[in-house]
Parts: sequence; C-alpha cells; structure tokens
Amino acid sequence: MDHVLRAQQFDKKLIAQVFDAADEMEKVVARGGSEELRGRIMASLFYAVSTRTRLSFESAMHRLGGNVISTENPQSFSDFASSGHFEDTISMVNQYADLIVLRHPDSGLVYRAADVSSIPVVNAGGGDQHPTQALLDLYTIYRAIDGIDGVSVVLMGDLSHSGASRSLCYFLAKYSGIKLWLVSPNELPLGEDLLEYLGRHEVRFQEIHGPGPELDDALKRADVVYQTDLPQEYAPAENGPTRQAFRIDPDMLRLIRERAIIMHPFPRVDSIAPEVDSDPRAHYFQQISNGLSIRMALLQMLLSSQ
Ligand code: CP
Repeated sequence: MDHVLRAQQFDKKLIAQVFDAADEMEKVVARGGSEELRGRIMASLFYAVSTRTRLSFESAMHRLGGNVISTENPQSFSDFASSGHFEDTISMVNQYADLIVLRHPDSGLVYRAADVSSIPVVNAGGGDQHPTQALLDLYTIYRAIDGIDGVSVVLMGDLSHSGASRSLCYFLAKYSGIKLWLVSPNELPLGEDLLEYLGRHEVRFQEIHGPGPELDDALKRADVVYQTDLPQEYAPAENGPTRQAFRIDPDMLRLIRERAIIMHPFPRVDSIAPEVDSDPRAHYFQQISNGLSIRMALLQMLLSSQ
C-alpha cells in the first residue's frame, strides 16, 4: 500500500489485514498509546473543512508517538489550489513530512498529489470518495454483525454527494450476497456510474425515493441502516417527500429490526432524532472509536513500509 486514495484499491485480503491491525490498535489505545511512529511526521492538509476526520487522524498519529504539522484556515489556504501551485505545495510538504493526509473538494487533486509525492498520500474525503470513513464503517459492520458476506444495508440520504456512501458501496461490492436499498429523494440518487458498478459486481439493489411500503419493508429486513443528511437547502419537489420522510425518529425506529445497527458518518444535522441515541442499535459513536483504530492501523501500515 503506497497511498490510500479510493476504495477500489483494496482487496478482501488487504481489508482483513487492516481490520486485524485495527484490533491490535484498540489494545494499544487501552495501554495508553505507543512510540511506534516516534520521529515520524504527518502533514494534515485540509482544503475543505473537517472536524472528525482531521482530529481522528491527528489523534491516531499522536497515539502512535508521531508528530503532526498542519495548515490553519482552509478557506484561505485553498487559494493555493486555484493558483496552480498545487503540485509545488505537495513537493514542498514532501520535504517536511513522512505522510500527507489530504482533503480536497476536487476529487482529482488527491490523485495529482499522489502522482508527484514520494511519501504516502491519504484521501481524507471531500470529493466523490471518503475511503477511510468507509473502511471504518465496514469495520463497524464487521464487528457488529460478525462478518460482511450476506449483509443487507439501507443507505439513506443524499446519495449523490456522500463520498462516504459511495466508498462504502465500492467496499461492499467486494463481498458476496450483499443487498442494498438505496433510499434518497428522486433528485439525489446514487450516481449511474456506481449503479453500473454494483450491477457488474452482482450486488442486488433497489432504489427507493420516498416513504411507503417499500421503505417500510427495507427497514424491517436490513441488518444495517446507514444514514446521511440531506443538504441544508433541500426543498421537496411538488408532492415530493419532505426531510422528515428520511429522518430516523422513534416512529421509524419501531420498523427497524431488533438486531440491526444504525450508522451515520457525522456530522449529523437533523437526520437522526436525539431520542434514538440511547437505543442499543445506535452505532454512530462506536464508529468514531473504530475510526481511531482504523486510522492508527493505516498510518502504521503506510509508514512501516517506508
Ligand atoms: N465524517 C466526516 O468526514 O466528518 P468531517 O467532515 O468532520 O471530517
């Protein structure tokens, strides 16, 4: 593994190795951390805002004894990207750090960074994929459901713009017997490219564009309900479904099976009611802790091969 750029680069064997390493990292955290990456430096380059991913990577590096350098104020820093000096910036950071964690809203930039970088580049989301988020999501499913083959998942929300949902689809397509219900407003569906990919990889899927018997049936049958928020500016088309139709509240919770898990990559705005948080099916805070283990595992794997 030279870089972490997109979900398709992983095969099942590598995913299993990352999961095994993440299991070990959980023990490292319980012991108070390690010095394994002492003297190594991670550059945190975020051209778009982030709270969770950035803090998770920075915490992961610190817990392994490494150091972090980072940019402040991503909005003004992003002027660099439009001024055409992006590759220069990456070459410069190569002199300062041993690994780059990069978030950029333009999906192509992470590949341009990898092309000129002699140190590992990790895609921290912001574009059409968020591979480390999806890897921690897959790990959460793997631990909670005890395996991934045969898992059935409701993916609900803005499926057009959620890089985490897109990367998760690519990961799930590596396993057998996967069933997906793709639940979104009509105008925010999963992209045609990904639907074609799922079909080619024999993933059974059904698109659902609002409340009704199809959604109720999906919620009653799914092992996982993976929720993302609709955009703030979402306004239903005439007679179209409201935001409420895609919100997990106590009424929708009653439809979800007892042994299912509910996930969300966060930030959550209004797509899951706070009353759901105390339900044992809510796994979104577990995702955050699993994310630390996964990112520690990735940092250790990427830097130990340097
Ligand atoms: N889940 C996630 O990517 O959150 P941030 O945008 O805060 O990093």
